[in-house]
Amino acid sequence: MKILGIETSCDETSVAVLDDKTVLVNLVSSQLMHQQYGGVVPELASREHMRILDSLVTEALDKSQVELTDIDGIAVTRGPGLMGALLVGLSFAKGLAFATEKPLLGVNHVEGHIMANFLDHPELDYPFLCLLVSGGHTQIIFVKDFHDYTILGRSIDDAAGEAFDKAARILNLGYPGGPIVDRLARIGKPEFYHFPRANIKDNPTNFSFSGLKTALLYLVRQKGSEWAEKHKNDLCASYQEAIMDVLVTNTIETAIQRECRKLVLAGGVAANSRLRSRISEISMQYGISVYFPSLEYCTDNAAMISRTGRELYIRQLFSSSSISAVPNLTLENDF
Ligand code: KG4
Ligand code: ZN
Repeated sequence: MKILGIETSCDETSVAVLDDKTVLVNLVSSQLMHQQYGGVVPELASREHMRILDSLVTEALDKSQVELTDIDGIAVTRGPGLMGALLVGLSFAKGLAFATEKPLLGVNHVEGHIMANFLDHPELDYPFLCLLVSGGHTQIIFVKDFHDYTILGRSIDDAAGEAFDKAARILNLGYPGGPIVDRLARIGKPEFYHFPRANIKDNPTNFSFSGLKTALLYLVRQKGSEWAEKHKNDLCASYQEAIMDVLVTNTIETAIQRECRKLVLAGGVAANSRLRSRISEISMQYGISVYFPSLEYCTDNAAMISRTGRELYIRQLFSSSSISAVPNLTLENDF
């Protein structure tokens, strides 16, 4: 079974071709023009998707040596994401599905991040606990089966990725902040400064990161930007450690409480080197098996959309041509 996947929910245009469970090609074009604005400009994102999507699909088919007629289904992200950006991919996929008379498979991007794990770990099976950490989400999810999710905890304010991006903005490091903070933190001291670790009383599996960002902002205002520049490695390491402490503690405690012996990481922040090493280390101590996607499948990509599309196809969960883009789609309101 061959699935063509299209992802345009934010600032990455991506097209993939999946043959059964093997990724034949996964092309990702990251929109660099947003860097000068310190964040994604929605209108520019839509226009750029529109400019390159057609040629990226042609290139993906060429590189995988697959004819459009040999494709079984067309998978596309329908939410969550930026409305305009989503519409570009979805409209394109609808047109292609109609013209080729292939089934359309509308994919939930969040589910795609979870499914990315099956690309690298075909042996992974349900149920498992998932820590989903991206630019828009921070959730601990009990995954009983495909399409069967229970959210056990979530961020009550900023997502973990957002906390990284905001720190990078405060420290003038560039966008997106996560990979930059990750890199600078490698030669910094995590104990340089103690940032607050929010403890949510009513639900200890919930997260809060907005106080952390404010603490950094006030510190930089108080000490000055020259001081911040001089200590950027230590500041990144200390700030990152505060995020890691709550992510790792909450996730492992939940896994132990629920007697879940399988833990899966998903989303852009799952690419973080400190998260990968800390969660691996502590999981080993507690006899928990941990899985994370390879770096290319952590951040937004169409291979994970194709992989999710494959599951939908197998279950005959085809989408009608009238489906709409849903910017605030969640795992809970996806029906
Ligand atoms: O999953 P993703 O590509 O897009 C969303 O669906 O949101 O995640 C993007 C987020 C950004 O906030 C980015 O800064 C963060 O993932 N990120 C990282 C790393 N790589 C990407 N955060 C921490 N460390 C990284 N190495
Ligand atoms: Zn994403």
